[in-house]
Amino acid sequence: MSQTEATLDLVALFEQNKQGKDTIITVVDDPVYHKTKKYKAINAAYLVQNETNLSKIDIQNTKIVFECKDGYKPEMPLELFLKAKPYIAFQDIEAPEGANWESILKNGIQMDAAPFYLIYPSISTKDQQYKWPYNLIKIMLEPLDKTKVALFPKNSKKAVTGYELFEKNCITCHALNGIGGTMGPELNYPKSVTDYWIEKQLVEYIINPAAFRHNVKMPTLGITNHDAKEIVVYLKYMSKYKKAD
Ligand code: HEC
Repeated sequence: MSQTEATLDLVALFEQNKQGKDTIITVVDDPVYHKTKKYKAINAAYLVQNETNLSKIDIQNTKIVFECKDGYKPEMPLELFLKAKPYIAFQDIEAPEGANWESILKNGIQMDAAPFYLIYPSISTKDQQYKWPYNLIKIMLEPLDKTKVALFPKNSKKAVTGYELFEKNCITCHALNGIGGTMGPELNYPKSVTDYWIEKQLVEYIINPAAFRHNVKMPTLGITNHDAKEIVVYLKYMSKYKKAD
């Protein structure tokens, strides 16, 4: 029911030379480097087609999940991905001698897009439906409703809004019962954050994490007080449905 249909380990595929033909792709207004960039890249839709049994997969009911080095896990519908002419960049043409990528400073930290960066030569970087994960290492195909099947609050109408907000704003970085991103900590088990945080403080933390922790890695997401409260209602509900080990 909540199985992963396929996992592509990009690092291994490139090591085994299974990535397919490369080409040069230009991205105007690149969302990582904030200028026009040129990359060596491979066709990502072909790679997914060649490495998975797409004819056996119900494309309309499948999502593609991207796993990044730091545990960040954005996702989008597989159908949208396949139609968007996606490419996986593996080398930055403008990189300095001896390096594969140009580095940039982000929040005071030196970073680059290695090892892989998902780009689209023909999609506007402003279109939020399309994900541009960098530091990409793996691609997974999963049922579109995997999160919903596992985490929807079946027994509480009151928690539904919070669930929807959590899925939209939090799950790329945080898991509940092991489902979701791992950039931030698991929030439900063995102890739920609602078991050890004072509720009012938890709401404030969600709105403005930097007011609690110096150099906090969780961004300020623009969550309103009302929405943060709804999310806490949902987290409290989930604390009664912890994953059993
Ligand atoms: C971009 C990734 C990211 C997103 C999105 C994100 N978080 Fe976080 N979150 C983190 C990280 C990283 C930490 C660890 C905090 C630190 O840097 O010390 C954290 C910490 C937390 C904590 C504290 C956990 C503890 O045990 O003290 C809570 C609660 C939390 N996040 C809730 C949320 C909620 C609710 C949302 C959605 C509205 C959210 N986060 C969205 C990355 C994220």
